[in-house]
Amino acid sequence: MFRRNFLSIADLTNAEIEEIFALADGAQTLRSDRVANGQIMATLFYEPSTRTRLSFESAMHRLGGSVISCSDMKSSSTAKGETVADTAKVVSSYADVLVVRHYWDGAVKAMAEHADVPVINAGDGSHEHPSQTLCDLYTLRKEKGELKGLTVVICGDLKNGRTIHSLVYALARFGANVVTVAANGMELPQYVLERLEKEYGYTLAPVASDDLSAVVTETDALYLTPRQPHQLALFTQLDSTMIQSRFNTMVSGLRYDAFYMTRKQKERMKEGTTGGDYPTIGPRFLSEQRFKDTVVMHPLPRVDELSPEVDKDRRGIYFKQAAYGVPVRMALLKFLFNQRDTKRMPTRRGPAAYQSPEPLGPQCRNPNCITVMEPPSTVRKFDIFTGGPGGALILGCIYCDHRFKVQLVGHIKSKRYCAYDTGLADTVKEWLKKKELAIFNSIKEAEELSYEPYKSGPQRTIMDETEIESAVRDISRQILGDCQEPDRLLILGVRSKGSYLAQRIAVELENQRKTKPEVGEIEIYGSGDEIRRLSAADADAAPLNLKDREVVLVDDVIYTGRTARTALSMIFRSGRPQSVRLAVLVDRGHREVPLKPNYVGKNIPSSERERVRVKLRESDYGEKDKVVIYSIINPNEAGQAEINSERTVNPD
Ligand code: NCD
Repeated sequence: MFRRNFLSIADLTNAEIEEIFALADGAQTLRSDRVANGQIMATLFYEPSTRTRLSFESAMHRLGGSVISCSDMKSSSTAKGETVADTAKVVSSYADVLVVRHYWDGAVKAMAEHADVPVINAGDGSHEHPSQTLCDLYTLRKEKGELKGLTVVICGDLKNGRTIHSLVYALARFGANVVTVAANGMELPQYVLERLEKEYGYTLAPVASDDLSAVVTETDALYLTPRQPHQLALFTQLDSTMIQSRFNTMVSGLRYDAFYMTRKQKERMKEGTTGGDYPTIGPRFLSEQRFKDTVVMHPLPRVDELSPEVDKDRRGIYFKQAAYGVPVRMALLKFLFNQRDTKRMPTRRGPAAYQSPEPLGPQCRNPNCITVMEPPSTVRKFDIFTGGPGGALILGCIYCDHRFKVQLVGHIKSKRYCAYDTGLADTVKEWLKKKELAIFNSIKEAEELSYEPYKSGPQRTIMDETEIESAVRDISRQILGDCQEPDRLLILGVRSKGSYLAQRIAVELENQRKTKPEVGEIEIYGSGDEIRRLSAADADAAPLNLKDREVVLVDDVIYTGRTARTALSMIFRSGRPQSVRLAVLVDRGHREVPLKPNYVGKNIPSSERERVRVKLRESDYGEKDKVVIYSIINPNEAGQAEINSERTVNPD
């Protein structure tokens, strides 16, 4: 039997969402027609819930169906160690539809892979909550008429709030604008923003803070819009003049149609990282003329981000939003039941999928992903993208959507491996097409599978230990020279080589000034905190505050400039620094984006076929510090020789 799941908002087209809304408008008819007569829904909630669970259960009863449930998953076989895969298999033989909430990202998708009936995601970790989004869109449409062109401000914990992730994609698809007002350290994850930029052509611009001063927050608001009048300027110079001019192009005087508040998702945070200012809506918001037609929404439960005064105001529509949960979920159930009788298969648009042909292979880096928490319930599959920052090869986990950078690739026929490099993009695409691409987490893993390294040309040292040392000293001296207030300095390294350099620069600054500046690192493709402190002792301290800081971004090598650009946009959306300057040990000269570092250790013009590698000693024992250059031998050419020799033996 064909079945249709609802795991992500991406599983429905805009037309289907409209179809569900039309069904919701006629919920009375669905009720009197008893469209789910004789059907059973099982609700499996591994996390607390009031609205989602009860509105699904009420919806099923109103459709004439019935509900079975575990009152507490801790008293189910989960407590005895049963996997989600087994639970899904078993329960799907007792029911016609499963509604599941789980604390792991991607767990509901894994369960859907093992169930025989439609599965609905009622919230998985901090990933998605698509049926909440249907209620949100339905409410917005009822209040405002049309979604296209609306400006919705999303507030609070945008990092862990799963309702937010499903909502922003949907708003983008319907052509609404989004303004983000995140609590410090709780900004929209990079993978979400990237999808908005790449798939929907959204651009980012900062919003004038006066506009939103009625909502308390430490970080800046960003405007995400499908039109492009406020495109982020590309910087040629990263000093305070640039910052100033960039903020002059800030958007102000926007018409805000809705504020969507969220609660701080404390249960998903590490101890000690929950501090800081949090956006709130209260009397001041209500009294501002500019918000006179702005409705206030919230998926609920609220904690203290919405004052009770908003309840009495006509603009506070969150209880109505919760009430729509029943007709919308009745409509969703009816829609999924209808789909069972059709032959139509959902078409999955998007990037190519990758599954390792080897028993060892890449692993999702999100520690809360089902593939990490319970591997036996999953198959390790990824979306694969070329052309990430710096031309990187990126894998996106199909369960939790987190993305990470590929370091090592291998060719299963020739059993060779090498570090991934932009020069290999076409070769790797070819291997992928022929299902000959292996991806490894480590050299150890490649070697365990008997892979050998590809050859590269001889290495030439272009900076030795003394030269690196004096470059770090020079850079540090120049930083101090340009710095207006050393106490505001923040040295931020791009992980991982940039982080080592940032630490060295910090030590040097301490030698020269006797106090050590704050040091952090920024992870372009991380899954946890993207910008974090860099000393083990304060790893659990509050998130780094970028506001009014003099930031020096540090990386080892600059070539296309894309990595630095991505790092810059991450910095800007995490707070408004007073200035950002860029320091690199090596500038390779070529550039795809107009970026000019403020401090350069050495200029080494080199071609795409060449690799410049910075080797930095991580302990007192390793190799000496040096910068080397070598040319790469395209594995395709190296592999070609072997394929040709095979052909001589076995001509086809
Ligand atoms: C949300 C959830 O569980 O993700 N609540 C809901 O479903 N209405 C939001 C939250 O818990 O903060």
